[in-house]
Amino acid sequence: MVSEVNRSFSTCSAVSVTGPTPHVPVLLRQAIDYLAPRDGGVYIDGTFGAGGYAAAILGAAAARVIGIDRDMNAIAAAQAQVDASGGRLTLVEGRFAALDAIASGLGVAAADGVVLDLGVSSMQLDTPERGFSFRHDGPLDMRMGRDGPSAADIVAAASERDLADIIFNLGEERHSRAVARAIVEARRHGPIVTTGALADIVGRVVHGRSGDIHPATRTFQALRLFVNDELHELEGGLAAAERILKPGGRLVVVSFHSLEDRIVKTFLAARSHSGGGSRHLPEKMLQAATYRVLTRRPVTPDAAEIHENPRARSAKLRAAERTDAPARPAAGVPLPTLPRAPTLTLPRKRGREGWGRRGRVGRGTPSLAAVLQGNRR
Ligand SMILES: C[S@@+](CC[C@H](N)C(=O)[O-])C[C@H]1O[C@@H](n2cnc3c(N)ncnc32)[C@H](O)[C@@H]1O
Repeated sequence: MVSEVNRSFSTCSAVSVTGPTPHVPVLLRQAIDYLAPRDGGVYIDGTFGAGGYAAAILGAAAARVIGIDRDMNAIAAAQAQVDASGGRLTLVEGRFAALDAIASGLGVAAADGVVLDLGVSSMQLDTPERGFSFRHDGPLDMRMGRDGPSAADIVAAASERDLADIIFNLGEERHSRAVARAIVEARRHGPIVTTGALADIVGRVVHGRSGDIHPATRTFQALRLFVNDELHELEGGLAAAERILKPGGRLVVVSFHSLEDRIVKTFLAARSHSGGGSRHLPEKMLQAATYRVLTRRPVTPDAAEIHENPRARSAKLRAAERTDAPARPAAGVPLPTLPRAPTLTLPRKRGREGWGRRGRVGRGTPSLAAVLQGNRR
C-alpha cells in the first residue's frame, strides 16, 4: 500500500497523531544530526511510527522521505502528514528488511540515508487491543503487522522447552523455565488469551523488588520479538540498507535493548573493517569496509530527555557512513543463544546443548514454524 503526501513540513513539531498517546520520538535531534539530511536527498525511514523522524527530516532539508511501517494503523494515521509534505513523503505498508526492494519499486535505486528506530510505538503499546502491554488488559496479540500467529497462538502451541528457550534467549529472563512451566500448567485449565492472564501467570513465579521492572517485562519482550521475528528483521534491514545506501550515505539505528544493540554493534564492527581474506585468498579478494562508524560509543539520551520521556531510558543510537565498497552478501546470523547457568553435574562435552567452558550452553531459539508444528523435538 503506497500513499503520497502533498504538503510540506516546516518543523518536526508538526507531528500530530490522533489515538491513544502520541509517540514522542527518542533521540530525535541526535538522529537527525547523524543523518545530516541534504537538499535533494532521498531518505528511508524504515520505522515510520508516528512520523516524528520523517517530519524532522522533511523539516531539515528539501528532501524526499520514503516512510515504511509494517503496521497499517501507522500508515493510515499519517494522512495528515501525507497531506502536508508537498509530495515529498511516500508511505508504504511493509517491512524494513525489504526496504531496498520497496524503494526500488518506487523508482529509487540509491538512498542518502536510512533510519531505523526499533521496537514498538507508544500508540501500539497504549492500545490494549494490540495486546503489547501487561499494563492494560487486552487480547494477547502483539502482532505489528496483519498476519502471522499471535502471541496467544505461540503460548498455546509451544512446548514447555520451546517456551523456556524463547523467554530465556529473547527476554533474557533468568526464571524462563519456571515461567514456561507456569504457562503450561495454566493452559491445562483453559487457553491463555489475554495480556492480563499472562501477566498474572508470570507474576506468580517472577517476583520483582519494588523499583524493579514489572515481573512480566522480559516475558512480554520475548514473545513480542518472537511473534514479529524482530531480530531477523533487524539483520535483514541492516543488509538492505547496506545495499541501497550511496557512498557517503548515512545509517542511523536506535535500539532499545541489548539484543538489538548487539546485532547493530556487531554488524557495524564487521562492516567497518576489511575482511574475508585468508592465507589461501589473494589480497585483492579481501572485502573492503562498507561503513565508517561515526559513533565509537552508542549515543544515549540525557537526563532531561529521560525525565520527559521515560521510554527513552534504554535507547542507544549508532550511526555509520557508507563507503563506496560494494555491499557484502547478507550474513544469516542465528537468533541469540545465551549461555545457561549450569543446572546439573553432567560430563563435560561441547556442542549446542553440551557444556562449554563456562557451563551449559543454551539451546537455540526455535523457529516460528517449528513451534507451531510442535516438531522441534
Ligand atoms: C519506535 S516506533 C518508531 C517511531 C518513529 N521514529 C516516530 O518518530 O514516530 C517503531 C515503529 O516501527 C514499526 N516497525 C517495527 N518493526 C518493523 C519492521 N520490521 N518493518 C517495518 N516497520 C516496523 C512499528 O510498527 C512501529 O510503528
